[in-house]
Amino acid sequence: MVELLDGKALAQKMQAELAKKVTELKRQHQIVPGLVVILVGDDAASQIYVRNKERAAHAAGFKSQTVHLSESISQEELINVIMTYNDDPSIHGILVQLPLPDHINDKKIILSIDPSKDVDGFHPMNTGHLWSGRPQMVPCTPAGIMELLSAYSISLEGKHAVIIGRSNIVGKPMAQLLLAKNATVTLTHSRTKHLKAFTKQADLLIVAIGAGHFVTKDFVKAGAIVVDVGMNRDDNGKLIGDVDFDSVSQVASMLTPVPGGVGPMTITMLLEQTYQAALRRAAKN
Ligand code: GUN
Repeated sequence: MVELLDGKALAQKMQAELAKKVTELKRQHQIVPGLVVILVGDDAASQIYVRNKERAAHAAGFKSQTVHLSESISQEELINVIMTYNDDPSIHGILVQLPLPDHINDKKIILSIDPSKDVDGFHPMNTGHLWSGRPQMVPCTPAGIMELLSAYSISLEGKHAVIIGRSNIVGKPMAQLLLAKNATVTLTHSRTKHLKAFTKQADLLIVAIGAGHFVTKDFVKAGAIVVDVGMNRDDNGKLIGDVDFDSVSQVASMLTPVPGGVGPMTITMLLEQTYQAALRRAAKN
C-alpha cells in the first residue's frame, strides 16, 4: 500500500507553531511580520494562489497585504512600487506573483527586490548563496518539499533523486537542496531523450513538468518515493497533478496527493521565511 505524504496536515501543524512564534515576536520585540504580495493583471490561477497566501498569512498573525496592479502598468512603475516596499521597515517580505505580463521583464523585476526581503528566493544573490552552500532565502516549493521529506524521516544520503523540470522556481533549486543532503541528482526536462530510462532509476522522483497526469506507473521503480509538484486543471476544471495518482500509487511506496501535498507546504515556507526575515530585523534593533 502506498503511504501518502500529507502536506496539508504538516502545513497546518507548522502554521499553528508559526502563529505562536509570531505572538512571541510581537510580545518581545513589538514586531509584526509584514508581507506584501504584488499581483499584476487578472490571471485567474494567480488570483487564487495570492488569495491563499494572504489568507494563511493573516491566520498566522502576519500583517499581510495584496497590491493588485493593472495589467498595463509599465516596468518602471512596477519597479517604483517595489522600491517603496524595499524602503518600508514594516515590510519584511516582498513577493511578486509570476507570471508577469509579456511587456515586463521578470528578471529585472526580481533584481529590483531587496535580497533580504526576497522571500521567494528568486533574486540572483539568493540563488548564488544557495548554490555556494550557504542558503538564505530559498524558493518556497523546493524548501517545502525538503520539510515534507524530513517530517517523514526520509533519508536522502546516497539516494538517486531524479527531477523532471528545470525551472528556476522548482527544478534547479530542488537539485541543489537534494545535493546538499548528499543525494545523487539527475535533472531531466521536457527535451530529455529516453526520459523513462532515467525516471525508472529514481529512489526519489520529483515531478514538476506542468502537464496533467504525465507520469504513469511505467515511469516509476517499485518502491520509489514520488513527489508531485503539478497544479493543472483537467477538462472539468478539477485540480490534477503531473502524476497519474491511481496508476503510480500501484508501484510507489510514498506519494504526495494533489491537492493536499506540496501546495500547502509552499505557502508554509513563504510564511516561515517572512517570519525569519522579521526575526533578523528584530535582532538588528
Ligand atoms: N508562480 C508560480 N509559483 C510561484 C511562486 O512560488 N512564487 C511566485 N512569486 N510566483 C509563482
